[in-house]
Order: sequence, then structure tokens, then C-alpha cells
Amino acid sequence: MAVIKVRNTDERIEGLEAVGAFLEKQGVLYEHWDTTKLPASLQEKFDLTDEDKNEILSVYDDEIKSLAERNGYVKWDIVALSEATPNLDELLKKFEQVHTHTEDEVRAITAGSGTFIIKGEGETGYFDVELEAGDVISVPVNTPHFFTLTEERKVVAVRLFIDPSGWVANPFNDPEFEEAK
Ligand SMILES: [Fe+2]
Repeated sequence: MAVIKVRNTDERIEGLEAVGAFLEKQGVLYEHWDTTKLPASLQEKFDLTDEDKNEILSVYDDEIKSLAERNGYVKWDIVALSEATPNLDELLKKFEQVHTHTEDEVRAITAGSGTFIIKGEGETGYFDVELEAGDVISVPVNTPHFFTLTEERKVVAVRLFIDPSGWVANPFNDPEFEEAK
């Protein structure tokens, strides 16, 4: 289950209800999918074939379509990152910069883990959302954020898009983030 850490106050929020309530207040969609639906072999596999990716998408077809219908997403795919990814360190360096998008950033973690660092509303400031398998998040359009891996450095996630061609990272230079690091 997701854990939240608020950078300014060191507050730590755990548990489905508390995490859900905090994120709802921030306008961030959060839900949890049943990871036991995924065959055991795919719960620990990070170097995926096209067949593996299609299997993950078909296992979660109902959940994906429900999310898509509720929020207007029309396309989805699978992203996998691990030590098997060429230039992983370079990629992470590129990821780890605060930015915004002109649409939601939706990730459903199906294996491994990852962290979204998000700029909260008003006084809240930046907070980290540590996600593990089953956690689903949608960072709203125009909300400053970035994504990074956790110590295990591996993740598989479903991504959902309104318009994949418009999914571009716009840098967001924020002195407040530098202070909250
Ligand atoms: Fe992003």
C-alpha cells in the first residue's frame, strides 16, 4: 500500500483510508488493484516481452477500462524499468526534475515500486507518494511532480493517456522544491 511523506513537516501517512483521504484533498486520484490476479511469474519479472505486456494488460482489462471510462483515457501501455533497461541512471536523472504535463499522469504499478514527488496545494508543499504493486495514481494535469524508482530500482506500470502524442514534460523551476529537498 502507498505511503506518503510530507517533506516540510516529516509527516508520514499510511493505510488505504488515510492515504486516500490525503490524496483526494490534493485532487490526486488513488486506488488499489488486486495484485494476486497477476500470475506469480509476472509479479517478479521486469524484462518483459511483448507477450508479457499484453498478458498484464489483459489481466487488468476491467480495471483499466473502468479507470479510462471515468477519466477519459483512450490509450494505455506498459512501461518497465530495471537494471536491464539501457542507460537506467541517465533516464532517472532526466526523470528527477520537477515538471508538469498538459494531461494527467496515470500509473498503475503491477510489479516493483516507485515514488511520485508531487507539489501539494497551498501550505502542503512537496510530498512523496511511495507506491508498490497494486497502487494506482493519477497526478492531475498541470500539477508539478516527478517520478523516480525506490532502492530496489525496478518497476512495471500500466500508463493511461488521453493523448500520448501530447504527453510532454514541461520543466517547472521551483525554488520551493530546492528548499524542501
Ligand atoms: Fe511526469
